[in-house]
Amino acid sequence: MAIGFKITKEDGQSRARLGLLHTSHGTVQTPIFMPVGTQATVKTMTPDEVCSCGGELILSNTYHLYLRPGHELVAEAGGLHNFMRWDAPILTDSGGFQVFSLGPLRKITDQGVTFRSHIDGSEHFFSPEKSMEIQMALGADIVMAFDECIPYPCSYEQTKDAMKRTTSWAVRCRTRHNREDQALFGIIQGGMFRDLRLQSVAELTTLDFSGYGIGGLSVGEPKPMMYEVLDYLVPAMPKEKPRYLMGVGSPDCLLEGVYRGVDMFDCVLPTRIARNGTVFTKEGKLVVRNAEYARDFRPLDPECDCYTCRNFSRAYIRHLIKANEVLGIRLTTLHNLRFVLKLMQNIRAAIVGDYFVEYKDEFLRRFKLD
Ligand code: GUN
Ligand code: ZN
Repeated sequence: MAIGFKITKEDGQSRARLGLLHTSHGTVQTPIFMPVGTQATVKTMTPDEVCSCGGELILSNTYHLYLRPGHELVAEAGGLHNFMRWDAPILTDSGGFQVFSLGPLRKITDQGVTFRSHIDGSEHFFSPEKSMEIQMALGADIVMAFDECIPYPCSYEQTKDAMKRTTSWAVRCRTRHNREDQALFGIIQGGMFRDLRLQSVAELTTLDFSGYGIGGLSVGEPKPMMYEVLDYLVPAMPKEKPRYLMGVGSPDCLLEGVYRGVDMFDCVLPTRIARNGTVFTKEGKLVVRNAEYARDFRPLDPECDCYTCRNFSRAYIRHLIKANEVLGIRLTTLHNLRFVLKLMQNIRAAIVGDYFVEYKDEFLRRFKLD
């Protein structure tokens, strides 16, 4: 069996649910947060360290691995799991999002996208078929359909065209994909327009994917607008399939997403902000680089159980970062990963114990937003 999804409990006071996602490299519990390993590494962390934080399923990327080191090389190494020595499940994004983020470096037609490499400027072409070939070579457990992600804001006509194109590309992905040990997810687009979102989900559902990504959110729109889209979109999605909110991962959005029935999340945020010296605490973000922590000998978050917080002070970590010592950003990365992964563990425990909504409210009361 390539993949199976089983809902084990539904929350009585929200759309939150608990589930088991079975993949070719083991079973994980949902709701889940996937650390991002764009270039076949969760930046600065060994696989053991990601594991020690509670990471169980990681995300990697078609666009980056195709350009460097090349998907054929990864296949030669025995696939992505073997190449990077990560034995647990992996999901690869299709490259759609990254290619569309290239701005003037790309040209889109119904056939696919021509783009220039951000590394050496060389010209390349991605189509739905090409994305499937690359993802089959990489060998992740879950692969994503090749979609067109539009910016925010975007006109109705442009949003509609991208949504229709995403559907026709989804059909082509479904046709080309043929690895039995991989699950293929479709991606819902439609911007901030209710009728387009509902049309997108209706069209993709007829293709019977193993799961559904919610794309085109967290692209610069206000958070309440994203929550409103989830409020009408999620109930229209197949109940028995995993729902994956792409590119979302701030602690408040994770709670709001789970509340609205989302099962999977990924985001570079925890690891990216860690590398510029910002960490999560129960009270909100803390910029440990700041001068005010020079003589602060407390842990980053006194309530955290991670290796960083069990051993080191804010003052020491600030010193490492100011001195450009790589250990500094390794320690902040480890902490931030633990913070979001522990949050997901707490969320799952709260659903089990029938106190999810109380947990969410209590967390958000303390966690200051910027
Ligand atoms: N990551 C975040 N948003 C998106 C999206 O809309 N499409 C894809 N493929 N990946 C994403
Ligand atoms: Zn910590």
